[in-house]
Amino acid sequence: MSSVVTIEPMRWWQIDEVRRLEERLFPDDAWSIEQFWGELAQPTRRYCVAICDDRVIGYAGLFLLPPDADVQTVGVAPEAQGRGIAGMLLGSLLAGADDEGVTHTLLEVRDGNEAALTLYARLGFVAISRRPRYYPDGTDALVMRRPRPGSTA
Ligand SMILES: CC(C)(COP(=O)(O)OP(=O)(O)OC[C@H]1O[C@@H](n2cnc3c(N)ncnc32)[C@H](O)[C@@H]1OP(=O)(O)O)[C@@H](O)C(=O)NCCC(=O)NCCS
Repeated sequence: MSSVVTIEPMRWWQIDEVRRLEERLFPDDAWSIEQFWGELAQPTRRYCVAICDDRVIGYAGLFLLPPDADVQTVGVAPEAQGRGIAGMLLGSLLAGADDEGVTHTLLEVRDGNEAALTLYARLGFVAISRRPRYYPDGTDALVMRRPRPGSTA
């Protein structure tokens, strides 16, 4: 895999490739093709992909309704993880959200998903509450919040 990774807005013709990656990353509750189409059709959504050697190796999405935003999803191909790609994807979306007037962004993450928790903490998210047995297998969710840098919200 080359070291050149670009981040760009997700396009409809990339949905099939994203969906194949989604199935690898979330085998128990992967979003369907229709769900991705539905997301891209919403004016309140912002999605981007990471491209390497003409392949989609990661994707992320945000629900954005200033002053609020929610991280919808983020995933990176297993063979490309640990190279900062999720940080690039979410960093790009969060910078755009900051520019569009978002003052804070929320997300839910599975307790124990250490890679995701490390990533989110690095991006400025702080855990604010816990949702017991939120996931079908009984695992808790942590709710995390990121204020826009420099904001008092
Ligand atoms: C979570 C995920 C998107 C991270 O992607 P990534 O491109 O590897 O992320 P990054 O390289 O930008 O950052 C990951 C951080 O977690 C760290 N990390 C990776 N695995 C870890 C582990 N098992 N325990 C602790 N930290 C870990 C990395 O070292 C890195 O930390 P750093 O910034 O201090 O170096 C990826 O692991 C993934 O797709 N997981 C499956 C889908 C998923 O769980 N998505 C999140 C749903 S809420």
